[in-house]
Amino acid sequence: LKTDLLAAIDAAAGLDALEAVRVHALGKSGAVTGLLKTLGGMSPEERQVEGPRIHALREAVTVAIADRKAGLEAAALDARLADEQLDMTLPVDVAPRGSVHPVSQVMDELAEIFADMGFAVATGPEIEDDWHNFTALNIPETHPARAMHDTFYLADEHERPMVLRTHTSPVQIRTMMSQKPPIRIIAPGRTYRSDSDATHTPMFHQVEGLVIDKGITLAHLKWTLETFLKAYFERDDVVLRLRPSYFPFTEPSAEVDVGYSMVKGKRVIGGSEGWMEVLGSGMVHPKVIAACGLDPAEWQGFAFGCGIDRLAMLKYGMDDLRAFFDGDLRWLRHYGFSA
Ligand code: PHE
Repeated sequence: LKTDLLAAIDAAAGLDALEAVRVHALGKSGAVTGLLKTLGGMSPEERQVEGPRIHALREAVTVAIADRKAGLEAAALDARLADEQLDMTLPVDVAPRGSVHPVSQVMDELAEIFADMGFAVATGPEIEDDWHNFTALNIPETHPARAMHDTFYLADEHERPMVLRTHTSPVQIRTMMSQKPPIRIIAPGRTYRSDSDATHTPMFHQVEGLVIDKGITLAHLKWTLETFLKAYFERDDVVLRLRPSYFPFTEPSAEVDVGYSMVKGKRVIGGSEGWMEVLGSGMVHPKVIAACGLDPAEWQGFAFGCGIDRLAMLKYGMDDLRAFFDGDLRWLRHYGFSA
């Protein structure tokens, strides 16, 4: 029996097979257990002889099973280690990658286009005082334009009333007060108005342009805008239309439309089948130049302001402005902005 059991233990190919052998030998109705039970029916003399032999058998079988079990477990571990080898030369799984947001993308494009025309990038605070946002821009306290801007006012604990800037035009003021002309800057950034629908969000983006020099005329403005919009839309057939308009800080003022054509039921920039308003502009008002401590007889200039989100929509085809600020990766991917 001992030889048979030890052979079976040796032959057990896995932990399950070994367990079966153990039950067969040492289980409740196992062979060795059966032998142990016979001790009870023996005479004391017989038991003295058989007892140690049967106990020795049980001991030998138990030890053999434990050895075999340790051996099988070690082998299983070796196999797993061999199996789990890491190949450090394999390429890694690519983690989800972010991408540039359309607004940032357009800001970069603008900075590049205007850099080629000699414009630097200027910035100003988003929390602005009422003087820079309105008064210095020839919008006095009683001016209806203040109401038109749907301004967010900050709690009234400041010496000067503070607002979330309603346009990037206060950067005109800050630049003229901190730099000597000639000045050529663009100022892209966040702007705020209490307004929300498919084409308006309470936070949006504008880019301001400002040129101050000697002998600047409307022709410089028109050339600059034409060069900019042709470069931005990457088309030579971009046509501009300047419509007389009114802004308190420019005189004369013009709203600028860009022509589009219908291609397969969609508006495409270029040609002149229809017109879309893209920006406001004009010659900087002498009062604004004077408010910044410059002599309007010596210095003239032009300024323009343009919605960046709108520029992005026109170039990349989005139709709902609100989606710009939802942070939905599927939206980015849909418009080709995700890896
Ligand atoms: N600040 C104006 C607006 O937000 C745009 C503008 C800028 C107009 C500069 C003229 C000159 O509507």
